[in-house]
Amino acid sequence: MSKEVELNKLKEECNNCQKCILGSTRTNIVFSDGNPNAKILLIGEAPGADEDATGTPFVGRAGKFLSKLIEESGLSRKDDFYICNTVKCRPPENRVPTDEEKALCENYLLSQIKTVNPKVIVLCGATSAKSFLGKKIKISEIRGKWFKIFDGIDAMVILHPSFLLRKHSEDEGSPRWLTKEDLKKIKEFIEQ
Ligand code: URA
Repeated sequence: MSKEVELNKLKEECNNCQKCILGSTRTNIVFSDGNPNAKILLIGEAPGADEDATGTPFVGRAGKFLSKLIEESGLSRKDDFYICNTVKCRPPENRVPTDEEKALCENYLLSQIKTVNPKVIVLCGATSAKSFLGKKIKISEIRGKWFKIFDGIDAMVILHPSFLLRKHSEDEGSPRWLTKEDLKKIKEFIEQ
């Protein structure tokens, strides 16, 4: 089965999913965006209002800012990234998804990772990083570092664009500047 067929099948399963409470409050499931053959798979936190309305991850203000940082780092969102979230449905009021919601949604995400088979996973923001690296991590201490997750897939944590929208400086050493440096390291890594 081709990647596209496999992912479409999985998306259909998600469309019918009512395993957790988010199934009853969503407008659309938010399955993925980007290229299933990409070398980079990015995992965000959860869909927000714009994503719930459109069914596409990272299309609101934070998403547009993420796209800008990606392009400014010399990468292409459309070609270089396959983008998804820790959960497929929007938590009401944009609250953080619960451990139970993440656990019930995990198999969908693991199947996406297995099917896409990326060279690198980008954990975008604290919720995503904690899901894979443990609750005790401090994102400011681990962003930009390399980790191995699952059976040895390389992963890097980056700061979340919603956080970066609240930090306006672009100066050397600022969170925005550091995130672009992290994305450039990821670009070098996939080009190796
Ligand atoms: N924030 C996320 O973490 N994911 C989205 O899809 C949108 C905003």
